[in-house]
Parts: sequence; C-alpha cells; structure tokens
Amino acid sequence: MSSFGLAIALLLLLLLCLTSPVLSCTSQEKGSLLRFLAGLSRRGGLPASWRSSTDCCSWEGIACDGDGGAVVEVSLASRGLEGRISPALANLTGLLRLNLSHNSITGRLPPELLSSGSIVVLDVSFNSLGGGLGELPSSTPDRPLQVLNISSNMFTGMFPSTAWEKTRSLVAINASYNSFTGEMPSSFCISSPSFASLDVCNNKFSGSIPTRLGKCFGLQVLRAGQNNLSGTIPDEVFNASLLEHLSLPNIGLEGKFDGENVIKLQNLAVIDLGGNQFSGKIPDSIGQLKRLQELHLDCNNLSGELPASLGTCTDLKIVNLKGNNLNGQLRQVNFSTMLNLQVLDLMLNSFTEEIPESIYSCSNLTALRLSSNNFSGQLSPRIGNLKSLSFLSLANNSFANITNTLHVLKNSRKLTTLLMANNFIGERIPDDLTVDGFENVQILTLDGCSLSGNLPLWLSKLTSLRILDLSNNQLTGSIPAWIKNLNFLYYLDLSNNNLSGELPTALMEMPVLQSENFQDNLDNRAFELTVYIGSFAYRTLYNFPTVLKLGRNKFRGAIPPEIGRLKFLQVLNLSSNSFSGEIPQPICNIKTLQVLDLSRNHLTGEIPQSLNELNFLAEFNVSNNDLEGPVPTGGQFDAFAKSSFGGNPKLCGSSLAITCGFSADAPLASILSAKPLIDKTVFVIAFSAFFSVGVLYDQMVLSRFFG
Ligand SMILES: *[C@@H]1O[C@H](CO)[C@@H](O)[C@H](O)[C@H]1NC(C)=O
Ligand SMILES: *[C@@H]1O[C@H](CO)[C@@H](O)[C@H](O)[C@H]1NC(C)=O
Ligand SMILES: *[C@@H]1O[C@H](CO)[C@@H](O)[C@H](O)[C@H]1NC(C)=O
Ligand SMILES: *[C@@H]1O[C@H](CO)[C@@H](O)[C@H](O)[C@H]1NC(C)=O
Ligand SMILES: *[C@@H]1O[C@H](CO)[C@@H](O)[C@H](O)[C@H]1NC(C)=O
Ligand SMILES: *[C@@H]1O[C@H](CO)[C@@H](O)[C@H](O)[C@H]1NC(C)=O
Ligand SMILES: *[C@@H]1O[C@H](CO)[C@@H](O)[C@H](O)[C@H]1NC(C)=O
Ligand SMILES: *[C@@H]1O[C@H](CO)[C@@H](O)[C@H](O)[C@H]1NC(C)=O
Ligand SMILES: *[C@@H]1O[C@H](CO)[C@@H](O)[C@H](O)[C@H]1NC(C)=O
Ligand SMILES: *[C@@H]1O[C@H](CO)[C@@H](O)[C@H](O)[C@H]1NC(C)=O
Ligand SMILES: *[C@@H]1O[C@H](CO)[C@@H](O)[C@H](O)[C@H]1NC(C)=O
Ligand SMILES: *[C@@H]1O[C@H](CO)[C@@H](O)[C@H](O)[C@H]1NC(C)=O
Repeated sequence: MSSFGLAIALLLLLLLCLTSPVLSCTSQEKGSLLRFLAGLSRRGGLPASWRSSTDCCSWEGIACDGDGGAVVEVSLASRGLEGRISPALANLTGLLRLNLSHNSITGRLPPELLSSGSIVVLDVSFNSLGGGLGELPSSTPDRPLQVLNISSNMFTGMFPSTAWEKTRSLVAINASYNSFTGEMPSSFCISSPSFASLDVCNNKFSGSIPTRLGKCFGLQVLRAGQNNLSGTIPDEVFNASLLEHLSLPNIGLEGKFDGENVIKLQNLAVIDLGGNQFSGKIPDSIGQLKRLQELHLDCNNLSGELPASLGTCTDLKIVNLKGNNLNGQLRQVNFSTMLNLQVLDLMLNSFTEEIPESIYSCSNLTALRLSSNNFSGQLSPRIGNLKSLSFLSLANNSFANITNTLHVLKNSRKLTTLLMANNFIGERIPDDLTVDGFENVQILTLDGCSLSGNLPLWLSKLTSLRILDLSNNQLTGSIPAWIKNLNFLYYLDLSNNNLSGELPTALMEMPVLQSENFQDNLDNRAFELTVYIGSFAYRTLYNFPTVLKLGRNKFRGAIPPEIGRLKFLQVLNLSSNSFSGEIPQPICNIKTLQVLDLSRNHLTGEIPQSLNELNFLAEFNVSNNDLEGPVPTGGQFDAFAKSSFGGNPKLCGSSLAITCGFSADAPLASILSAKPLIDKTVFVIAFSAFFSVGVLYDQMVLSRFFG
C-alpha cells in the first residue's frame, strides 16, 4: 500500500472512531458503578481509571453496548478487591456479564443480582462471600441468567429452591466448595430445558440424590461429591442420557454398581464413584461405554473379577480401582487394546498370579500401582516397552527374582519412583548388576524383603536418588564410603538389618543435609500417585522429612562428632546398636532435629545440656545406655517423659525425681532455666504440623484424592 493509501486508511479509521456512536454511560450508571467502588475497601488500583470526570465506558473492566452505550460487562477478576458488593450494581439495567472472581470480597451476594432482569453470566467464584442466598422472588419477570458460578466461597444455608422456573435459560450452576446445607438443588431441571452442568461438590447437602435430576435431559456434568448424602443413585438419574461427567465420590452411597442403568449413559467419559460403599461386581456392560476415559471406583466394597469387557473401553486413560475386594487374575482383560491408558491403580485388592503380558502394550502408561495384592511371578522384559512409566509400585505382593526385576527395569529411563517393599522374600540383593539405568530414580524402596548381601555398589550410580528405604532386611557389611556420592539423598532408612562396623565419616558428608537450600532443587510437583512408605503417605518430595535411620543394626564405635554437620536433619535414629562413648556435643547444632533416638546403646558420659536449644525436638530417647549426670531442663526437655531416660541408673534430675546430690548447682540451674510452658506448645504444633502431613495425605487419598 502506498503511503498515500495508508494515510487515507488512517484518516478513515480516525473518522470512524470519531463518528461511531460515542459509548458514553448515563450518569445513573456512572453513579451505580461509583457506589460499587465505594463499597470496596481495597480497590485494586481502580480509582485511577474510574474517575467521575470521564466516561465510564472507558473505565478499566467496564464494557458498554455498542449501540445504546449501556454498561453490559463488569469484568474485574483477580484485582485484589476487598470489601462488599454494593446492590447498586443491580441498577445497571443493561448488565449482561458480571465477573468478580478471584478477589477477596466479603459480605453477602446482593439478592438483586441473583434475580437481576438482565444478568446472563454471574461469576463471583473464589471470594469470601458468605451468608445465605435467600429465596428468589417469584413475582419477577423472567430472568435471563444462564451461568451462575458462586463456587469457592463461604455460603451457608439452603440453596434457593423455588422460583427457578423464572430462569428458563439456565445452563450451568457451580456452587461447589461452600457450606450449603439442606437438600441438593434440582428444581431447575424442570424449568430450564438447556440446563447442562451442576457442580455442588464439597458442601454439606444432606438427604439423597434428587430423582428430579432425571428430568435434566440436557445434563452433561453432574458433580456432587463430598457432601452428606446417602442412599443409592436413583434410577431416574440414568434418564439424563447426555451425561458425560458423573462425579459422586465420598458421599456414602451404597448399593450395586448397576450395569443395566449405567449403559444408558452412552456419553459417559468420566465416572467417579470413589469412596462410597458400592458392592457387587463391576458389570460386564461397562464395556459398552465406548467414550469412557476415566473410571474411578476406588475405596468401595466391589468384589469379583475384572470384567473382560473393560478391554473394549479403548479410550480409557485412568483406571482407579484401589481399595476394593477385587480378586482373580488380570489375564482375562486384554490390556493391549487400551493404548491410551496412563494410570492403572489396583492397590489394595486381592488380585493374584502374574501381571498379564498385555499390560506391557500400554505404552502410554505413566503410573502403574499393583501394591498390596497377591500378585506373584516375575516382571517381563517387555516392561521396557513402557517408555513413559515413571511411577511403579509393586510393594506388598509376592513378586520373585529381584535380580531379574532390576535387570528388566533398567530400560525404564523415565522411572522416578520405584516401590518394591515386601517382595522377593529371602533373596540376595544382586551385587553384580551392571546398572546403567535408573538414573532418574528418586525414590527407591526395598524394605521388608529379608534381603541378604551387602549394600551393593550399583546403588551409588543412582545419582538422582532422594529417598532410599532398605529397612527390615538382612543386609550385612558396613556403610560404604560411596554413600556421600548420592548427592541428593536426604532420606536414608537402613533400620533393622545386620549392618556393622563404625559409622564412616563419609555418611556425615551427605551433601544435601549440609546445604541450607537443598529443597530449592526439589521438584514440587505432586507424584502421579501418592507414595506410601510404611504408614506414611506423601504427595510430593517436599513432604518427606530429612531422615537418617540406622537403628537395630550392629554398628559400634563412637558416634562421630561430624554428625553435627548434618545441619538439616529432622529425624536421627541410631537406637539398638552398640555405639559407645559420649553423645557428641555437635549434635546440638542440628537445629532442625525433631526426633532423636539414641536408645539401647552403650553411651556414657553426660547428656549435652544444650540439647534443650533444639526447639523442634519432639521425640527424644536415650533410654538403656550408661549415661550419667543431670538430665537437661528447659525447652522441650520439660515435656519428655521419664521413659525417655530410663535404664540409665546414673542419670539424675528433677524430671526423674532423683536429686543430683553430687552437684549442688544442677538443681538450682535447672530451676532457673525452666522456661515457660509456651515452648511446649510451640514444638507440639511444629511437630504435628510436620508429621500430620503424612496422615493428612493418607486421608486425602482414602477420600479419593485425584488430579
Ligand atoms: C437504584 O436506582 C434507583 C432509581 O434511580 C434508586 O432509587 C436506588 O437507590 C438505586 N439503588 C441503589 C442500591 O443504588
Ligand atoms: C471470569 O474471569 C476469570 C478470569 O479471567 C475467567 O477465568 C472466568 O472464566 C470468567 N468467568 C466467566 C463466567 O467467564
Ligand atoms: C465459573 O463457572 C463458569 C461456568 O462453568 C465458567 O465458565 C467460569 O470459567 C468459572 N469461573 C472460574 C473463575 O473458573
Ligand atoms: C466448579 O468450580 C471449581 C472451583 O471452585 C472447579 O474446580 C470445578 O471444576 C468447577 N466445576 C465445573 C463443572 O466446571
Ligand atoms: C448428615 O445428614 C444426616 C441426615 O441425613 C444428619 O443427621 C447429620 O446431622 C448430617 N451431618 C452433618 C455433619 O451435617
Ligand atoms: C425415567 O426413569 C424412570 C425410572 O428409571 C422411568 O420409569 C421413566 O420412564 C423414565 N422417564 C423417561 C422420560 O425416560
Ligand atoms: C461388602 O460386600 C460384601 C459382599 O460382597 C458384604 O458381605 C459386606 O457386608 C460388605 N461390607 C460393607 C462394609 O458394606
Ligand atoms: C488382545 O488385543 C490385541 C490387539 O487388539 C490382539 O492382537 C490380541 O489377539 C488380543 N489378545 C487376546 C488374547 O485376545
Ligand atoms: C500417547 O501419548 C502421546 C502424547 O500424549 C499421544 O500423542 C499418543 O497418541 C498416545 N498414544 C496412544 C497409543 O494413545
Ligand atoms: C494371598 O497370598 C497369601 C500367601 O501367598 C495367602 O496366604 C493368602 O491367602 C492369599 N490371599 C488371597 C486373597 O488369595
Ligand atoms: C532370575 O532372573 C535371572 C535373570 O533374568 C535369571 O537368570 C534367573 O534364572 C532367575 N531366577 C529364577 C529363580 O527364576
Ligand atoms: C504395604 O503394607 C503396609 C502394611 O499394610 C502399609 O503400611 C504400606 O503402606 C504398604 N506399602 C505400600 C507401598 O503400599
């Protein structure tokens, strides 16, 4: 285009702008908006743009109608707004869309907005609005409301049940994550023919699932998990044949998982009925749900074998059946057809025999959890086909041949979590393995396998290792010096083996435990599936404490004073060994210690008094040694039970009710240094905050935490 042409075009554009109907709001609209602004206590910088001298159609977050100039949209999501919503907004008679989501707005939602004669989309999700919504007035003319998103607030009381017949255009309601009580809403199913999406999960609705939902013939999404509902899924619900997403976890539902009903819902892509009490078999007819992508039936009371027809649901990505009573072999399901499968979780069932070969065809599998079943046999080399596999749990089964298992897993280069506890009983840990894989493994558990042999050299090549649990085996020999080459290791559990020798100083050089910001390098993403170790559950690497557990072995010699270098250790357990000498003073430098167990050794000398400066110490045990002198007082030490010190006849102190006769200063010092009780509370909170993470996640998982 020539410059002349360009100039003409610009001129035209300018003219167009100048002559097009000037968007200018009426003073009444401006007044309503300013009243809304005045109701806010934090205004997110709006006043700079919302000046009464300017046209409110040009204000930030405001859009006006091209013709009449009426305000049609107020869009102020994520502005950091605080304060209340003024009912003045309802005076904007042309307002179609109001979006105040992701702010910190408090108070009530003005009923005028809910029953507005103009608003089509009302989104106040992710705020702190509370109180009840009240009932909608029934005498008003029709309301055009289509989308109502009030999720993630603090609303209480009953959900409006009447007068929805005036909202014939209603399409979606998201009232999830509030505290609504009373019956689950459903009356709009009768009046709003286009109604398609209802999300009321995480509330306190009670009673049963309304049969009226069956009248929602357009319903595609139904989510009502985490409520206080009960009973069965009424047959009528299966009349909503367009349903794609049926999510009713953790609401105490019972009854059979009815095959005849479920096949009426041919569009189902997601079924989530986890955490209920469904019993009986998984019906064969499930194979007719050709669009199924996610099947969550975890934590129910389902029994019997997996239906072979499951293999015909070729779109399945996630199959979560953990925590049922399912049994039999997996062989009758042909997994080769389920090429989209990404997560298969069969934990805590009673499946038996071998892993079927067909599973190794599911090349998109990222997480395979078979733990706590009765699987046996050996892994096939074909597991190397699972190129995306990053989470594998075989724990608590009867798998055999650890040498073979490690051999065939070498090729799973993406593997980060490998849990194999309680298998391979009585086998020998291979020491000749030429490990060139496992370079990405961060978590390795082989506890409870009664393995014999030494700590093998191949472990030193697992350079990404963070968590290593080899407890409860019969490993012999000493801790090798290469341990310090595991640059990221911060959780080492070698408890209950036959390890011997002195502690190598190399162990005290574990790099991450010395560096303040070792957590900076941690991947904070959630694992594909929760990692269970013993009775703890972990969702991310951050949740693991820093641990050195060497208890119940045959270690001897002095506890090296270099132990004080492990400045970021939280759990140190050296109990039930043959350590001698004194408790090294530098242990008091490990300010992060929460658990210190030195019991059942041959330690002598005094307990370092400055241990009372370890403010997070919650568990302390030096019982059954040969310690002497006064027990520290003050700090956490005022809270430890007598049993922490028992079996040391030469210890004294007020907490043991034995006066330290030979040292006149000690009792006085201990009285003077006694700190106020508040310290105890502080540590209890710190400790429980830390350790309840495991338990909490446990519960979250049991209550079907997913994605
Ligand atoms: C809405 O407008 C009417 C009429 O202009 C006025 O009387 C009323 O006070 C306004 N309401 C609010 C909440 O500002
Ligand atoms: C409201 O705004 C947020 C943030 O821009 C957006 O994610 C959300 O989809 C909007 N709500 C509606 C109903 O469009
Ligand atoms: C609120 O729900 C509506 C309808 O489902 C949706 O379009 C909107 O994006 C949601 N808002 C946010 C902030 O997610
Ligand atoms: C409802 O809102 C919540 C967030 O509060 C969101 O996680 C959920 O996906 C929404 N439901 C639907 C059906 O979009
Ligand atoms: C749950 O519902 C039952 C009746 O269905 C009621 O007795 C009970 O109080 C409710 N519990 C809560 C926590 O709301
Ligand atoms: C809805 O379901 C019930 C019970 O399953 C059935 O008797 C009824 O005929 C169904 N109604 C329609 C319209 O499909
Ligand atoms: C689980 O199902 C079995 C039958 O399969 C039944 O005997 C048992 O009572 C059920 N348990 C619970 C808690 O519902
Ligand atoms: C399993 O499915 C695959 C792929 O469709 C097919 O080639 C194979 O023959 C099937 N195996 C059995 C045992 O049916
Ligand atoms: C596996 O996943 C990749 C990427 O997510 C996708 O492109 C591919 O189609 C999937 N393969 C199969 C067989 O589903
Ligand atoms: C699982 O295996 C163990 C030992 O192999 C056996 O004692 C137990 O009965 C089996 N349980 C089931 C449900 O098959
Ligand atoms: C264990 O696996 C190795 C390597 O695959 C194999 O040579 C050996 O025969 C297996 N042992 C048993 C008892 O199956
Ligand atoms: C193995 O079983 C024990 C005892 O039931 C349990 O505490 C542990 O979490 C299980 N391990 C895994 C990895 O599931």
